[in-house]
Amino acid sequence: MFEQAITSTKIIKTGQLSAADLDKLIFYCGGEQAHPCIITDSNPLPSRDRMLNELRKKRQVEVLNRVFPDPKVDDIMVMVNGLKEKPVNVVIGIGGGSSMDSAKAVAAVLSNGGDLNDYLGTDATRKIEKRDMKLILIPTTAGTGSEVTKVGVYTSRSGRKYTLGHPLMQADIAVLATEYVLGLPPAITASTTFDALSHALETLWNRNATPLTDRVAIESAVRILKWMEPAYESSLTGTGEGRSEMLEGACMAGIGFSMTGTAAVHALSFILSEEWHVPHGIACAFTLEDVYRMNISDGNTRKKLAQVAGALFGKGDEDRLVATLLDRMLTLKKKFGLPFTFRDLHIELDESRISALFDKSLDDPKMKNNIVPVDKRIVFELIRGKI
Ligand SMILES: NC(=O)c1ccc[n+]([C@@H]2O[C@H](COP(=O)([O-])OP(=O)(O)OC[C@H]3O[C@@H](n4cnc5c(N)ncnc54)[C@H](O)[C@@H]3O)[C@@H](O)[C@H]2O)c1
Ligand SMILES: [Fe+2]
Repeated sequence: MFEQAITSTKIIKTGQLSAADLDKLIFYCGGEQAHPCIITDSNPLPSRDRMLNELRKKRQVEVLNRVFPDPKVDDIMVMVNGLKEKPVNVVIGIGGGSSMDSAKAVAAVLSNGGDLNDYLGTDATRKIEKRDMKLILIPTTAGTGSEVTKVGVYTSRSGRKYTLGHPLMQADIAVLATEYVLGLPPAITASTTFDALSHALETLWNRNATPLTDRVAIESAVRILKWMEPAYESSLTGTGEGRSEMLEGACMAGIGFSMTGTAAVHALSFILSEEWHVPHGIACAFTLEDVYRMNISDGNTRKKLAQVAGALFGKGDEDRLVATLLDRMLTLKKKFGLPFTFRDLHIELDESRISALFDKSLDDPKMKNNIVPVDKRIVFELIRGKI
């Protein structure tokens, strides 16, 4: 219940979400005149598909599925334009971060007009000023935490990935339904658990950290580190162990970073996704150990990481705990088959291109949140170490 006290999103935790349940939520949000629109992707997901078929028997719903990883402005604008003449008053995003972020953008642009591209970047010409509809988000990965964050991530027409943040991007209701994450395949489980772990750690090694965000981040990091391995194993065996715990852990990490923003891992990850379309969680896992090593030069960050390690491995000397936590992450990364080098990603990167590609991460506001200041030389050395 602690989570509920620090976010404006109502969080509903459940094993299953039936069509009748969602129908009630739609009525609660939109009343007698409810006109819901569901944004999801087109990949099959049996639990969601069954539920939507049932829901269609109960009421008229618009279902739009122009959603792809790292949502692009043009795809979102196709959905917005298709809805302009419809009296939509409830937007529902069901899926991973890409579906939930697309739903956030559809609600924002339908309410404020114009083109999503104009809302992105530091020279944006449009601002979010209102939201005329309710927003319900239902994650099927665990995950981005987007169901409780006030940001969405979009690829602009220039190909750059931008974070668009505003309190009006925050969902009214988030439904954490375990059934939707039970069948997550191993590769997606691996990448999305590391995304959630990155959120928790980036909230800790953050210039905007406060005692409250530290508490949320430590608690979520412990929960994620405890359950990510059972969740990965259940992606291989189908037992379902760790799934609901990971769903909650990822959500809690989302509440944390929604207050601080993310930091160096995410700033660097955006370049990997822009240049080579590396999936978000894999792109985060890629530099996590390097940024960890960099940030433990900050004494306060060491203390916080030792607290996470202490909760997992028992009391001990701070240096030992911080090293043990790093070892644990490296072991899990290896077990999950995640990449350590550009060679593992099948990317050929020449040292001479590092600055041209990665220096732009230094202009990203996320990089400025990192507790240890990052400059061109640090970025160059870090990336060179991964070739
Ligand atoms: N808004 C935020 O706060 C926030 C935070 C972190 C990341 N993001 C963004 O979210 C996006 C990544 O989201 P993601 O990692 O959740 O992945 P995703 O939404 O891009 O989905 C990845 C793949 O997983 C599949 N998938 C989703 N749920 C599944 C399930 N239950 N079973 C089987 N397959 C399933 C999808 O169909 C897709 O093929 C990126 O664009 C990233 O930048 C947003
Ligand atoms: Fe992320």
